[in-house]
Amino acid sequence: MKTILIFVSTLDGKVTKWGEPHVSAWSSHQDQDYYKNVLKESGLIVMGSNTFNADTFKPSPNRQLIILTRHHDKYKSLEVAGQLEFTNESPLEISARFKNKCHKQMLVVGGPHIATSFLKEELIDELWLTIEPKIFGTGGNFATDVNLDINLRLLYFEKVNEQGTLITKYAVLKK
Ligand SMILES: NC(=O)c1ccc[n+]([C@@H]2O[C@H](COP(=O)([O-])OP(=O)(O)OC[C@H]3O[C@@H](n4cnc5c(N)ncnc54)[C@H](OP(=O)(O)O)[C@@H]3O)[C@@H](O)[C@H]2O)c1
Repeated sequence: MKTILIFVSTLDGKVTKWGEPHVSAWSSHQDQDYYKNVLKESGLIVMGSNTFNADTFKPSPNRQLIILTRHHDKYKSLEVAGQLEFTNESPLEISARFKNKCHKQMLVVGGPHIATSFLKEELIDELWLTIEPKIFGTGGNFATDVNLDINLRLLYFEKVNEQGTLITKYAVLKK
C-alpha cells in the first residue's frame, strides 16, 4: 500500500491563508476539481480532526474515512461503521493496521499537524502537491515546526490553467 500526502500550497509554502480555515476560498477551480476526483477514487482517507472540522466529509460506502483525534468521545455520534471512524491511534499504528488490507493507497489529506506526524515517522511514499501562483506571507506550512531532511523526486507535473497552477507528484526517496 502506497501512502500519499496531498496538499495545495502557495509559492511561499502556505497551505492556509492568514488563519482562514477554508482552502476552497483561495485555491483554483482546477485544483478543487482535481482534489474532488482524487478523493472520489480513494478508498482509504486519513485526516486530523481540524481538517475534518474545516471541510465537509460525508460518509460513503465507497470509502473509509479515518479521523485522528485524542478526543474520540466527542465525535462518537458521527461514527458510521466502516465509513467514518474517529481514532486516537498514532500514524504508525494506522499505517500498520491497513498495511495488509488490500488497499492500493492511503490518502493523507492533512492538515499540517497530521502531515508532520506522518513525515516524521517516514510513512509517506508520495507527495501530491498543487502549487498555486500566490503569496500569502502569513498562514500555515504543511510541515510545521520540526527539523526534517527529506529528499523527493519529481514524478509528474501539469500546468492546469492560464495563471500557471501546477499539479505535481513527487516520490519520497527512502534513506
Ligand atoms: N491547503 C491544503 O491542502 C490543506 C489540507 C488540509 C488541511 N488544510 C487546512 O489545515 C488546517 C487544519 O490543520 P491543522 O494542522 O490545524 O490540523 P489537523 O492536522 O487537521 O488536525 C490536528 C489535530 O488532530 C488531532 N490529532 C490526533 N492525533 C494526532 C497526531 N498524532 N498528531 C497531531 N494531531 C493529532 C489533534 O486534535 P484533537 O484535539 O482532536 O485530538 C490535533 O489538534 C485547516 O485550516 C485546513 O483547512 C489545508
